[in-house]
Amino acid sequence: MARIIDGTEISRVMREELAKQVAELRDSGVTPGLSVVLVGNNPASQAYVASKTRACEALGMKGQTLNLPEDVSKEELFAVIDRLNADPAVHGILVQLPLPAHLPYKAVLEHLHPDKDVDGFHPVNAGLAFVGDPRAFVPCTPAGIMEMLRRESIPTRGKHVVIVGRSLIVSKPLASLLMAPGPDATVTLTHRHTSDLASYTRQADILIVAVGKQNLITADMVKPGVVVIDVGQNRVPDESSPRGYRMVGDVDFDAIRLKAEAITPVPGGVGPMTITMLLANTLQAARQARQ
Ligand code: GUN
Repeated sequence: MARIIDGTEISRVMREELAKQVAELRDSGVTPGLSVVLVGNNPASQAYVASKTRACEALGMKGQTLNLPEDVSKEELFAVIDRLNADPAVHGILVQLPLPAHLPYKAVLEHLHPDKDVDGFHPVNAGLAFVGDPRAFVPCTPAGIMEMLRRESIPTRGKHVVIVGRSLIVSKPLASLLMAPGPDATVTLTHRHTSDLASYTRQADILIVAVGKQNLITADMVKPGVVVIDVGQNRVPDESSPRGYRMVGDVDFDAIRLKAEAITPVPGGVGPMTITMLLANTLQAARQARQ
């Protein structure tokens, strides 16, 4: 039976460590500040944003939310970002996605100053991360996965890591982090057009699935002793839950758990790590701003 990799517990430990580092920085006169820009009133986005700013405050950082109306123009949004880019008390800026369809999200993300782009979505940060520059802000989900592997003492050197999914936010940065000197993994990237997906996933020492499709990976698709990192977040109707749904990942957890060495649950696996890494990136932004 696989060991469960507990993202909630790893996050708790990391946040204690981060709180100490924030206190030290505050003693030297700098309080890290994160501004979250939320357009419209999508309830799921509102809940995410609230938990991000709450987590900042809990660590002794300053968190603020700027809530703009659903019909805000591109120019008005750019003006808000310009103001945050210029504000020395704001070290990190995050524009919550998805944006309403009339706003060009790529142009919006590129409008952030790269030094404040704690999501790591700006092309400058994607490029810095790709060349292995430590000043890069690494997107929170891949950064969180690397931290989980490290803290769970899961070796990556010489291991075959198979990633399912090719997103800019998770899979591509994760591939370059894993193959870098240090982690030293051999990485295979697969995606929706990969023929005979199972022939790749069965080779994985570490299987990372970031697609968004329930039960995409079944037990016959993995080898015994695999480590499984499930990034999927899928809502499944569930009348017994007060919210009317429950969250599941992309892998058949119950069946794969019998075969794997270790596995991340959903919820309580990769999810909690992402906000923790956002806090770490905000601290990094505040430190780098001081230099
Ligand atoms: N919406 C859902 N997850 C994220 C995230 O990590 N960053 C941003 N900006 N928006 C999101």
